[in-house]
Amino acid sequence: MRIVAAIGGSILLQDYNAERFKEYAKLLKEQSEEHEIFVVVGGGKPAREYIGVVRDLGAGEAKCDDIGIEVTRVNAKLLLLALGDAAYQRVPHNFQEALEFSASGKIIVMGGTEPAHSTDAVSAILAEYVQADLLVNLTAVDGLYTKDPKKYDDAELIEEITASDMMGIISGNDVKAGTYEFIDTTAIQMIKRSNLETVIANGNEPQNLIRAIKGEKIGTRVISE
Ligand code: UTP
Repeated sequence: MRIVAAIGGSILLQDYNAERFKEYAKLLKEQSEEHEIFVVVGGGKPAREYIGVVRDLGAGEAKCDDIGIEVTRVNAKLLLLALGDAAYQRVPHNFQEALEFSASGKIIVMGGTEPAHSTDAVSAILAEYVQADLLVNLTAVDGLYTKDPKKYDDAELIEEITASDMMGIISGNDVKAGTYEFIDTTAIQMIKRSNLETVIANGNEPQNLIRAIKGEKIGTRVISE
């Protein structure tokens, strides 16, 4: 299978700890023996902190995004270091480069591309671009809930949902630099228009990537309309 895995920066850089990178590198290497793997790494806390400074400097939103993108690429480089020889040792800056680099047969790791969306969108566009069989979005929550689980005790995990219904739930969220919550609407649009097989699961449990690849019941699975 050709797989695109989006790993949130908040997963990899929760506490600037190399262990998480090593854990993911081991698992990705194993999976790459059987599958073709593309990884998109998010910005997480360092991106948000840098964006905060840029905003205080009076820069506009797109410039904040620009700095966010740079940070995602640094994060991608850290994962490349952890992966070593199993990965192509350059971070693609766009989708064409990602495809070109993949001719090496190695794992591809990228960060952001251009302003106005998150790395969730990058992963969905990349999945379209390389015609991936599966998109796995590893985030800091278990999946999509009926309502905010941090605020409501009776919030329930949605195990299956169409992209249209997901869009209905997500569309009210904020789209400022560094503030994408859960998954951004551009990503959902791509998932919808290309009917991308997608699983959103908790990346704090790296084994969830394997569970998603195996088709096990995990997180929220986006189903055909
Ligand atoms: P992310 O979207 O990956 O970070 O990129 P996040 O929202 O903090 O999510 P997690 O924690 O990684 O899951 C960080 C910021 O970089 C900019 C946006 O401002 C985004 O909020 N960015 C990223 C872009 O503008 N374009 C991109 O292609 C990627």
